[in-house]
Amino acid sequence: METRLIRFEEKKSNLGSLVAIQDPDAIPFAIQRVYYIYGVDSETYRRGFHAHKDLEQVLICVSGSVKVLVKTPNEEKVFHLDDPSIGLFVGKMLWREMFDFTKDAVLLVLASRKYDEKDYYRDYEIYEKAYMAQRRGK
Ligand code: TYD
Repeated sequence: METRLIRFEEKKSNLGSLVAIQDPDAIPFAIQRVYYIYGVDSETYRRGFHAHKDLEQVLICVSGSVKVLVKTPNEEKVFHLDDPSIGLFVGKMLWREMFDFTKDAVLLVLASRKYDEKDYYRDYEIYEKAYMAQRRGK
């Protein structure tokens, strides 16, 4: 699966820490969009439930913590994001679900493309068929 954790360089001092993400050093794509999810005020809420045809993302939990399930029809992994100096790269054609948000969680997402609803698979069965078809085509 095209997922990996990226450790960002932290500038630490007695005043606290700073992470700078400057294209193209730290992220494997040019950033076209930034959004963030926060105020998920029940730990039972789950978000995501989609895959992207072409979009790549890096997810950074800049406050609190969250778990991210990334899966294909063949394998799945859960990442626990609880460190603002770590980013989770999520490639194309991967189903993702975010859960166990702490009340203070802020999930920052860096994205390789602008928002386009046509880039989404929001139905797992349709995603699964497209994934398998793409695999057979390779
Ligand atoms: P949604 O994709 O449902 O969030 P998640 O998958 O993380 O649970 O997005 C919530 C709403 O925000 C939905 O109406 C689409 C809209 N949206 C944008 O307008 N721009 C964006 O960049 C994103 C990610 C979502």
